Amino acid sequence: MISEKMKGLVNNNSVIRQMFEEGKIMAEKYGKENVYDFSLGNPNVPAPEKVRETIAKLLESEDPVIIHGYMNNAGYPEVREKIASSINRRFGTSFDESNIMMTVGAAAGLNCALKAILNPGDEVLTFAPYFVEYKNYVANYDAELRAIEPDTSTFIPDVEALERSITSRTRALIINTPNNPTGVIYSEETIKKIAEVLEKKQKELGTEIFLISDEPYRELVYNGDEVPYVTKYYDHTIVCYSFSKTLSLPGERIGYLVVPTEADPSGELFTAITIANRVIGCVNAPSLFQKVVAECLDEKADIDFYKTNRDILYKGLTEAGFTCIEPQGAFYLFMKSPVPDEKEFVTEAKKEHILIVPGSSFAGPGYVRISYCVARDTIVNSLPGFKRLAERYGLC
Ligand SMILES: Cc1ncc(COP(=O)(O)O)c(C=O)c1O
Repeated sequence: MISEKMKGLVNNNSVIRQMFEEGKIMAEKYGKENVYDFSLGNPNVPAPEKVRETIAKLLESEDPVIIHGYMNNAGYPEVREKIASSINRRFGTSFDESNIMMTVGAAAGLNCALKAILNPGDEVLTFAPYFVEYKNYVANYDAELRAIEPDTSTFIPDVEALERSITSRTRALIINTPNNPTGVIYSEETIKKIAEVLEKKQKELGTEIFLISDEPYRELVYNGDEVPYVTKYYDHTIVCYSFSKTLSLPGERIGYLVVPTEADPSGELFTAITIANRVIGCVNAPSLFQKVVAECLDEKADIDFYKTNRDILYKGLTEAGFTCIEPQGAFYLFMKSPVPDEKEFVTEAKKEHILIVPGSSFAGPGYVRISYCVARDTIVNSLPGFKRLAERYGLC
């Protein structure tokens, strides 16, 4: 018999994962090239060549006992030092190894951070629409995720609504920029406003509110927009980074947390996060890949490929009559459903062999998410189907 908590999770099993499975079945039935699966955020461009070369070089040159061995739960000190220097060089910060903990991707990073700061009954806020797993991660520590409703004309965070939503139980705000599922990047002005509200509320309520910046898409930016480095604007920040998307390494499970000294003058939080890494069962981030990413900090997967996908998709959809905001980053497009119940539209799209995810899976009902980290042909060949859908709904 499974636990009550797990029963709830099993019943609400990720719609995205279900679609992914459905896509595989449809591909067998109709042929892979005739199914347009936009359900999953699984990078489809290969990791940079340097990643593969570095793996080979490390396996050749390093002591095999050491390269596959345990290390400090926070990760190899020299890797953390290299990451700190890279962040400092790019964003003008002043971190060192004591501010960096290597993680098993952003998912585990978020869990370590939340485990370290949450007590049962605490509240965590985020802006809707949001990455569906946040709710589960927060519930892991018997706290509650509350979403702040979006302004759907821009999907830029509503900072006044944030101010109204903060209570004495609010322990953290999770932000994600560039955003999954909207592709929106929060400007410096928005980050500053968020920081001001958090500062004000901390003083007013006499509490400590963490800003957790979930940044797996930091490098996936298309119009040259800047993604502000959040630690520069607010002291109680924890940055959660991942190499899953930047280096196309989602299955290797590698990322890091940044805990600035301003957020943690005594070092108690860093120690708690490191112990959280151990007790949630990660122990440490994968040893070989810590060393690999340390050599590839200036590398990126082929971001231009996603940009071209974005351009073709956005143009095709808007020309067909759909309403969508142009994504500035990440590899998702959030499109308005032509009918209020977007699940009905998702079902209709399946008849065109198009798999897209209902926005309600991201607390964004009335919209659908289209992941464009797919083959170019998938995008180009899906457009006639989208056009037929637009015609059926009287959009053109
Ligand atoms: C917003 C967001 N946060 C976190 C994650 C988890 O990423 P990782 O593979 O680094 O665990 C994802 C993955 O898609 C994501 O979209």
